[in-house]
Amino acid sequence: MTPLTQRSAWLALRKHHDATHGTHLRELFAADPGRGEQLTLDAAGIFLDYSKNRVTDETMMLLGQLAEQCDLAGRTAAMFRGDKINATEGRAVLHVALRAPRSASIVVDGVDVVAEVHGVLDRMAEFAERVRSGAWTGHTGRPIAAVVNIGIGGSDLGPVMAYEALRHYTKRDMTFRFVSNIDGTDLVEATRDLDPETTLFLVCSKTFTTQETMTNAASARDWLLASLKDPAAVAKHFVAVSTNAAAVTTFGIDAANMFGFWDWVGGRYSMTSTIGLSTMLAVGPDHFRAMLAGFHDMDEHFRTAPFEANLPAILGMLTVWNVNFLGAETVAVLPYEQYLKRFPAYLQQLTMESNGKRVTLDGTAVDYATGPVYWGEPGTNGQHSFYQLIHQGTRLILCDFLAFAEPLNPLGKHHDILMSNVFAQAEALAFGKTAAEVTAEGTPADLVPHKTFEGNRPSNVILMDRLTPAALGKLVALYEHSVFVQGVIWGIDSFDQWGVELGKALAQKIAPELESAATPAHDSSTNALIVRYRRMRGR
Ligand code: F6P
Repeated sequence: MTPLTQRSAWLALRKHHDATHGTHLRELFAADPGRGEQLTLDAAGIFLDYSKNRVTDETMMLLGQLAEQCDLAGRTAAMFRGDKINATEGRAVLHVALRAPRSASIVVDGVDVVAEVHGVLDRMAEFAERVRSGAWTGHTGRPIAAVVNIGIGGSDLGPVMAYEALRHYTKRDMTFRFVSNIDGTDLVEATRDLDPETTLFLVCSKTFTTQETMTNAASARDWLLASLKDPAAVAKHFVAVSTNAAAVTTFGIDAANMFGFWDWVGGRYSMTSTIGLSTMLAVGPDHFRAMLAGFHDMDEHFRTAPFEANLPAILGMLTVWNVNFLGAETVAVLPYEQYLKRFPAYLQQLTMESNGKRVTLDGTAVDYATGPVYWGEPGTNGQHSFYQLIHQGTRLILCDFLAFAEPLNPLGKHHDILMSNVFAQAEALAFGKTAAEVTAEGTPADLVPHKTFEGNRPSNVILMDRLTPAALGKLVALYEHSVFVQGVIWGIDSFDQWGVELGKALAQKIAPELESAATPAHDSSTNALIVRYRRMRGR
């Protein structure tokens, strides 16, 4: 297969970039008064304005050709069909099956997984209703008042993001906490004011071997039993979400209290699986199903819409353009919606664990940049923090602004002011302020360079009606598929994560060395750190 950087569309994009990169967004807008209306998409309840990217119709046409030459359509069909596109792990990638309607059918290894998915969803819903209604009681007969989700990575970030995002719809008389970090503080602070008699732990781990989660779960069990004294209490206060039934039983959780899922659900793509149990407990089965329907709407849009009208395809290809041709190294995700405060953290795993790869599917080292760094904070807080660098620093940062027309908590003029900031920031980034404009304001000459804004900084504005469960589903699926699109172009496996293994293995080796007196067997720096730590702990 022709390497990516030698495909004709890539070469044409490089040439096109060289010919057009001197053109400022100011000029592009001046040359085409309709640009702000044209370079937009409105589909599946999401409006995307990508006109403030440094692109022309020709750029978009060439990006479409590149997608075609990388067989985006074929790879998408393969994913939806259940082919084992996670090649290095020999697995299908079927998070889309988790939100397929009951009437759909996707067969993997001879099994209709959609029927299984709905069977599990029904069980989850039944359990959630029992807990929410108080029918499920703890060991001493009291209803559950607090749910603590124990998990890490995809078994935490999706659930905590969704809980925060949908807090408006949650059962307010129940408390939800999320424990992920091995740092004991996380569990101690999360349980400090909880009553063991009314607390339910959800131990979420696809593998049920993850050190952090297993350690936290064991300490949570100790916390419970220190108060309830009877090991039989575990059955009423612990449920597990996992693909590893044997390990769940070994831990002491009743298999009847286990919610399974499948190896074709990647950790970072699992929030619509049983890993979303905390979400369902918080918002109830109907809202959870509405969220799934939102995901499915975006899945179907991605599967069926032509390239030029396809939101994830366009968003993904714009990222490729900004990263590989304009040199952007990071993407700032800027939700102008307080409920999405954990969305950037969630996206970090989704995007960077997926596309932080340096070899293609066949193991060849890439000679182009792959996944950019994703980061962000809710607006307007970021404006008073890091936006300075985005506006006037030396780096090119692609910004995704996320906003909703309707506030969930209308309060005076707050929402109009919030939205004016979204539009203002995107405008300022694109158009800046010239030295002539600054001078014309009477600015002293020595201050003119400091007050000049170069502009020409790319951004996307993603606008939706209202943050509902369905809207959240659409938004997350938009990014999931955009990440997939980028991975297809880069020719990488977006669904494995071998890069997390080395550190895990070394930590397993170092842990006993911290307690031993023997000379550690690492490099001189690691050895010295271990010895110093032992000394600091009086060992
Ligand atoms: O960090 C690596 C990773 O495997 C993630 O991909 C995953 O989401 C996380 O660990 C947690 O894994 P598990 O759900 O198996 O505990």
